[in-house]
Amino acid sequence: MASPFSQPEPLPHDPHSYASQSPVRVRHLELDLSVDFATRTLAGTATWQLIDAAQAAAVTLDTRDLTIEGIECLDGAGNASATTFTLGPADAVLGQALSVALKPETAAIRIRYRTAATAAALQWLEPAQTAGTQPFLFTQSQAILARTWLPCQDSPGIRFTYAARVQVPAHLLALMSAGNPQQLDPNGTYRFEMAQPIPAYLMALAVGDLAFAPLSGRTGIYAEPATLPTATYEFADLEKMVAAAEQLYGPYRWERYDLLVLPPSFPFGGMENPRLTFVTPTILAGDRSLTTLVAHELAHSWSGNLVTNATWNDFWLNEGFTVYFERRIMEHLYGPDYADMLQVLGRAELHHTIEDIGVSSPDTHLHLALASRDPDEGLTEIAYEKGCALLLTLESLVGRTRLDAFIKEYFARFSFQAMDTATFLHYLRAELLDPEPGLEAKLNLAAWVEGPGLPGNAPAVTSQRFAAVDQELARLNDGVASVSLLPATADWSSHEWVHFLHGLPASLSSHQLADLDAAFHFTTSGNAEILAAWFPLTLRAGYAPADAALEKFLLHVGRRKFLVPLYRALLATPGGARRAREIYARARPNYHSVATGTLDALLAEHQ
Ligand code: BES
Ligand code: ZN
Repeated sequence: MASPFSQPEPLPHDPHSYASQSPVRVRHLELDLSVDFATRTLAGTATWQLIDAAQAAAVTLDTRDLTIEGIECLDGAGNASATTFTLGPADAVLGQALSVALKPETAAIRIRYRTAATAAALQWLEPAQTAGTQPFLFTQSQAILARTWLPCQDSPGIRFTYAARVQVPAHLLALMSAGNPQQLDPNGTYRFEMAQPIPAYLMALAVGDLAFAPLSGRTGIYAEPATLPTATYEFADLEKMVAAAEQLYGPYRWERYDLLVLPPSFPFGGMENPRLTFVTPTILAGDRSLTTLVAHELAHSWSGNLVTNATWNDFWLNEGFTVYFERRIMEHLYGPDYADMLQVLGRAELHHTIEDIGVSSPDTHLHLALASRDPDEGLTEIAYEKGCALLLTLESLVGRTRLDAFIKEYFARFSFQAMDTATFLHYLRAELLDPEPGLEAKLNLAAWVEGPGLPGNAPAVTSQRFAAVDQELARLNDGVASVSLLPATADWSSHEWVHFLHGLPASLSSHQLADLDAAFHFTTSGNAEILAAWFPLTLRAGYAPADAALEKFLLHVGRRKFLVPLYRALLATPGGARRAREIYARARPNYHSVATGTLDALLAEHQ
């Protein structure tokens, strides 16, 4: 396809990385690390091959809470010589710039370092926090936490390949966002290679008592042995998902696609670490009803991992495309009725988020202005659902055939590159909008990208399956007993139940909840999405029979998306602040820093 488009250079400045201003960039990493559970440290060397190092006096990397023990320069033949370095002033969010002096012959630098026991990316688990009897470690690098376990150029626009050697205690398996072992090494020594260039936020490591089960020639599951059978059942359609994604938007470029099921303290639903998506065990519902999350992380293998947001201000380019893509995968596998439910739930979340943030807040723009803020605070549902809604609007204007061709070409053309909002808009105009007079005016791009709230031209989303749920809700409202809904609800999925629970009047009494609970057994549900939708109702009504289950959930689950609304609901009850603090004090050691960062602030507001 001939196109008038060419990508403007250079990419925009990244306000969240000191290294983004470095005149010298990294190209390849050789990582050599030992994992010590006793001291909760990673220690070893990071050797960075540099691009055109000879032309500059120094290279800058990002670090946070790292101890730098020494740095050497290496020439092209690998000969080492001592060099000097400086660490800049420490910023609580950005950390410290590490500036390393270079010599005319320098091709690489070798940094000897160790992490802090409090490194924000790392979560060290005691055996009791796992499903087994061994300790566990995992990393969470997105958005800007890679620098807390690796001195690196921690900007999503800077990519590198890597090889690693990781030493762990015998009997534990180590996995990375790279080619992975499928079996234990008797000495606990593991080697990894990632031949495709990735940004630092996709660096990942997990260590634990893990086993592997293949699903297809290129897909499989890693999990703790006790969880593995459940997980292989739950994700049986994984190969079908990859095949559907390829059919939609082009070849899968990362060779294998495996899942790692983490212990429940994992702070997110999923993280798209290349070749090895990390997922929460809270999607093991037993009925395969929460696997949309896997489709989401898989879709990031294109939107995000191939074409990458240039800075966190462009986060919607990662997440908005991924949500749209995720629902296309689910539609392909399970039909439009299924995908429609996801669109309706997503749209409802978008409206809540907009209300929460404020209808006219700039944080509801797709293009964000996060400079000088922790990106973790500014990355909201807006990127996901408003981003997806923009693509649905485009779909309604140009039709699926043209939109799909555009997206496929976009991924192919910008593979392994960074993309910022301005460049994307330029490309969108050139490829899709300009050829058709009047189209841009109908779309009103400015309102979407630089304007607040949800623009009025977003297509409405509806769901037939939810219409059936709404009918049952209406019967309930008319005074029909809960049990008489049983026949109609017999084959409802998690999605119908969540829609049902969200549709119940907020003012239900404890007595009415008891009636619902007797019929549908919400309190004893093994489905985390259903529990997370149920507990706010039980808290508001003071329905005591759910208290123990809520407490167990808060002590066990570390997924921030569930924790924040539940603690909020708890805080809003009479005497709730005390109870929330009491539970939080016990639960906090089980949460990742990403979750405690948010929850510490939330609980502090209610002192
Ligand atoms: N990449 C995100 C998780 C993330 C975003 C981590 C920003 C740190 C900063 C991942 O793809 C994601 O979106 N996960 C969602 C699930 C998804 C189905 C919406 C989550 O964890 O809830
Ligand atoms: Zn995502």
